Amino acid sequence: MNKATKLPTILVFDSGVGGLTVYHEIKQLLPNNHYFYCLDNAFFPYSEKTEQQIIDRTLLICRKLVEQYPIDLVVIACNTASTVVLPTLRQHLPSHISIVGTVPAIKPAAKISQTKHIGLLATKGTVKRAYTEALIKAYATDCQVEKIGTTELVELAENKLRGDSVDLGKLRNIIKPWIELKQLDTVIWGCTHFPLLENELKLCLPQVKYFVDSGKAVAKRVKFLLEEKAYPTTAEMNHNQQNLIFATAAIGNIFGFNNMMQRYGFSELKYLD
Ligand code: DGL
Repeated sequence: MNKATKLPTILVFDSGVGGLTVYHEIKQLLPNNHYFYCLDNAFFPYSEKTEQQIIDRTLLICRKLVEQYPIDLVVIACNTASTVVLPTLRQHLPSHISIVGTVPAIKPAAKISQTKHIGLLATKGTVKRAYTEALIKAYATDCQVEKIGTTELVELAENKLRGDSVDLGKLRNIIKPWIELKQLDTVIWGCTHFPLLENELKLCLPQVKYFVDSGKAVAKRVKFLLEEKAYPTTAEMNHNQQNLIFATAAIGNIFGFNNMMQRYGFSELKYLD
């Protein structure tokens, strides 16, 4: 394959700021790309939206962005969307654009668990998806799989990143069914927002030895696909690197949001109309 001569532009998409946990892993592994992060805050949260609404929304936004910018690879950093939208995106976006999804890490969780009692913590949509059931059937038949589907936890994580304190009582109440499960040794963060509550969740579930998410696996997949297309990854091409963030509606608590942008290295916030 011919060697590409420009730095690749990667679009990372989520309903909110949760996908930044995936973006962070990709950027750690591949610091020298252009990154666009898009949050669909106009339609947040996705948790309880219908599958068709999520498909239409994700396609519409990704289409708008790839029509306006030279995007090479799209990462859907959202389990709620990835579990329904990937075939549609692959069918409708230009074929030179690689699409990478983020789905619950059932396989590694089942493998690492010693008690074979694992928990899937995800949105209401993700826990009931056929895709999720298929993953459990394929990789975790030797495990007892508990599931909690929650929208409230997504909102707690979203607000935490913008500077709000986390109400531990509320959080404990959400995961109450698991607090007494002494054999539960592995929990899957099946929503990209939940690693943002790592400290709080660990505090509430002391019996859990392993918390598993998909961020690192997604980053490795991105690296593999870029290498396959022979994109340059050298630091000397890095001088005019772009890190932009796109939102679909006005940002509430812009002060907290600006702080977050700075922490993640974004230079500019743009609105997508
Ligand atoms: N961060 C998302 C996920 O991984 C979606 C959260 C939501 O909007 O409900 O599922």
